[in-house]
This record gives sequence, structure tokens and C-alpha cells, in this order.
Amino acid sequence: MSTLKTIGISTAISRRALLSLGGAVLLSTPGPAQTNDKPAEKEPNLDAPYVPTPQDVVDRMLELAKITGDDFVMDLGCGDGRILVTAAQKFGARGFGVDIDPKRIVEAKANAAAAGVSDKVDFGIEDLFHTPIGKASVLALYLFPHINELLAPRMLKEMKPGSRIVSHGFGIGKWRPDKEDMVAMRHIYFYVVPANVEGSWRIKEDGGLIYTLALIQSFQRITGYLEGVDGVRLRNARLAGAEIAFALETPNAPRKDFSGIVDGETISGKGFTATRVSKFAPR
Ligand SMILES: C[S@@+](CC[C@H](N)C(=O)[O-])C[C@H]1O[C@@H](n2cnc3c(N)ncnc32)[C@H](O)[C@@H]1O
Repeated sequence: MSTLKTIGISTAISRRALLSLGGAVLLSTPGPAQTNDKPAEKEPNLDAPYVPTPQDVVDRMLELAKITGDDFVMDLGCGDGRILVTAAQKFGARGFGVDIDPKRIVEAKANAAAAGVSDKVDFGIEDLFHTPIGKASVLALYLFPHINELLAPRMLKEMKPGSRIVSHGFGIGKWRPDKEDMVAMRHIYFYVVPANVEGSWRIKEDGGLIYTLALIQSFQRITGYLEGVDGVRLRNARLAGAEIAFALETPNAPRKDFSGIVDGETISGKGFTATRVSKFAPR
């Protein structure tokens, strides 16, 4: 045992030492004796280990996300591709999965072929931190909490409002899930990507009334107030993807309900339109 250990350590050290010498030295010194041994493959640097999601958890993740044939599902750190293969087989969804470990991509492609869904899903060797996610209508994750948190700003920026995220095991930082479930002692977290509505909005009612509404946003939660007007309260403010709704209430007038669709810098609603005049709401 101790001999084996000693050999292992000395091999590791000499390899590291050789590498640290750099290419120039290696070129100018005789190389090691040629053998038929294959060079050891470089192990990828994993940010999360390979632990596949059990099939019953995969099934529930896809149910929670209400996958349909119109969805494009992405799995960052896809392992053997089971989430995407199931999404394609059961619901007809298309998708793309990435993994930094080439072994996993070989397995994922083989699994897709065996399931007859290679025309729907594909897989690539990529570092998930560099994979664009804007095309995903659903993003599947089984990573560490700190990775989810690192990815959150990109989810909010790159993914379209209304697209969904389903995560096995861990939530996404301070973002409160829209739904949660538990299968076989495993947590599943579900999120809908909210539109960005933070800021001041000039609201024009069809009747001619114009006022400025300040909206303060934390993920899908919004609060706000009318700028420069006392005694009006914003009630029941809700944001679900691109759908926004709120009510304005004054002590002596009937409450007014608003609902509309956010599209970048405008909100089109029943009886009103709104234009964002500043991305920062005065607080
Ligand atoms: C916990 S497994 C999840 C596998 C699969 N998503 C599932 O749920 O069955 C995490 C996967 O992330 C991959 N991974 C780790 N770091 C990565 C990185 N930086 N880029 C891409 N994939 C990575 C691992 O190789 C592993 O397959």
C-alpha cells in the first residue's frame, strides 16, 4: 500500500513539474520513452459533480414546468441527458443540453438516439457559464446553490419574460419560487421569469388622465406608489412573466383596476397605456 502510494505521488509530482517547465524546455530535452499507453485524458474541472436526477423527480420537474411541444428546454450541466430526453419523449419538446464532461455528452447523445429523439434534442461540450440561455423557454438545473445564484442575473436578462426555470435540489438565492414541490425527499423549485418593470411609468388612461407610477421590483414581487400624489395606494400589484396587474385606491373614490402586458418600455392594458420614463423609481 505504502509503495503504491509513493509511486502515485512521485508520478504526480514529476508530471506537474514537467508541465511547469513549459513547452520550450520539453522541446529541448529528450522526451520520455515512447510506449503504447494512451496519454491520460485530462479530467474536466467540474463545478458540480455528476449525480443524475432520479426519473420520478425528472417527471415531476417537467410536470411542474408544464412542458409542451412548443417548448425549447435547456439543461445546464445535462449529465446523461435524461431531463431533455424525457421532455422530448413525453411532451415532444425540443432542447439543448451542455456538459463540460465529454463522457456525459457521449452518453446523452446515445440516450437520445436510443429514445428516438435525436431530431429533437442535442447536446454539446460547453462550460455552462458561457452558454447563451436566451433561447430557452424552460431552463432545467441540478447544480449548487451558489451556481444558481451566479446564473440568476443572466436568467433575468437573457430569458424572455414568461419563460420558466425548474431546479432540482436548490433554489435561486433570494428569488422566491412561484411553486415548490417535493418528490422522494428531493426539493423541486419552479420560477417564472418576470419582465423588468422597475422604474417610473407615465400612465395615460383612455379618458385622458395622466400620472406617474413608481414601481419597485424584487424578482416577481412589485410594490409602488403614485409620484407626487398623496393618499393613493397601490394595491394587489402582481407580475407574472409579462402580465402585470395592480389597483389604485383612494379613500373617497372607487378603486381602479389595471391589467396589461409589459413589452420592454411600454405596458399595453385595458383602458390605458404606460411608457417607462426612468429605470429608477425614486424611493
Ligand atoms: C448534479 S449533475 C446533474 C445532471 C443532470 N442535469 C441531471 O439532473 O440528471 C451536474 C452536472 O453538471 C456538469 N457540470 C459541472 N460543472 C460544469 C460546467 N462548468 N459546465 C457544464 N457542465 C458542468 C457535471 O459534469 C454534471 O454532469
